[in-house]
Amino acid sequence: DAAEKGGYDYFMMKEIMEQPEALRKTVFPRMTETRISFEDISLTEEEIKNFNRIHIVACGSAWHAGVVGRYVMEEVSRIPVEVDIASEFRYRNPILNQNDLCIIISQSGETADTLAALREAKKQGVKVLSIVNVVGSSIARESDDVLYTWAGPEIAVATTKGYTTQLSLLYLVSLYFAKVRGTVEEEHLNEYLQELRLLPQKTEEVLKLDTKMAELAKKYAQSEDVFIIGRGLDYAAAMESSLKLKEISYIHSEAYAAGELKHGTISLIEEGTLVIAIATQERLFEKLVSNAKEVKARGAKVIAIAVEGNLAMEEVADEVIYLPKSGDIFTSSYNVLPMQLFAYYTAVERGCDVDKPRNLAKSVTVE
Ligand code: G6P
Repeated sequence: DAAEKGGYDYFMMKEIMEQPEALRKTVFPRMTETRISFEDISLTEEEIKNFNRIHIVACGSAWHAGVVGRYVMEEVSRIPVEVDIASEFRYRNPILNQNDLCIIISQSGETADTLAALREAKKQGVKVLSIVNVVGSSIARESDDVLYTWAGPEIAVATTKGYTTQLSLLYLVSLYFAKVRGTVEEEHLNEYLQELRLLPQKTEEVLKLDTKMAELAKKYAQSEDVFIIGRGLDYAAAMESSLKLKEISYIHSEAYAAGELKHGTISLIEEGTLVIAIATQERLFEKLVSNAKEVKARGAKVIAIAVEGNLAMEEVADEVIYLPKSGDIFTSSYNVLPMQLFAYYTAVERGCDVDKPRNLAKSVTVE
């Protein structure tokens, strides 16, 4: 058992630490310094140029990856994107158009609602491109095109390497579509590709926050409620972080778009309430500093996650975690990493069964 876990106490930690390698295996075969290779994909350049809309459909963490995917895809390829929870999409009678593309995301490739959503899209004549980890799974088999995340088997119920490898493929697809559609200048595209190649290495660097996050988890493990706030891509990270925390440590946690705080959640802030402010978006950084001030003034304890060089959180937050500079769209690959570690150590502190949280299944194959 210990050998299977590679010397770690839980599969989740083994899988967190496997992320750099999983990213290398997923991304590197599909790109060089200046090119993305999708030769095995049946979508033609003509089809890509004519996309009217993209529908990203998934469940759980894969849906959070989809939320990141929307920001990135719209930013670089200028195709309008809708992100749907599969169990909503399948019963909503979604409006699909011949020139739409459906992107299905699933680690297991067997989630019942996600598979049903795929079938709905196909029934309406829309092409399906899926991002899947398990080779030969139902979703992989029924899709028109499959991009595999080469994360290897994921055993812990809470996904880590599954999620971050999904993000890496969403970057690749978005950049590829942008290139075909000519929405990003060659020079910028190359900068993006260079940044993408640094993903494994920078992930490795960020995972060195391990000890720091263990300390913070020890300090805050007895929190009853945790609010995680962010804007843009940091809001997507807040949702994924909040899910991680509640899944395995059973602490009540909510993710909030930081601008919505004053429309409700701020009434819940009391002396000592933990607020985690994810503030890695350069152009939204100051806004998050203001939000952190607002909760701080009401007694909250604040942990901030910011990018190196942005020091303004130091004066507001109780703790600041720094991530390497990577440009706004790639921060999603890094901002979630300290939170994976934080959720893990919090669960350990609270004596929870990290790999097999109560009431949850790795793959939800029934409705
Ligand atoms: C379950 C897992 C989650 C996962 C979700 C979707 O709830 O616990 O970690 O994100 O299913 O699973 P899929 O295999 O479709 O990505």
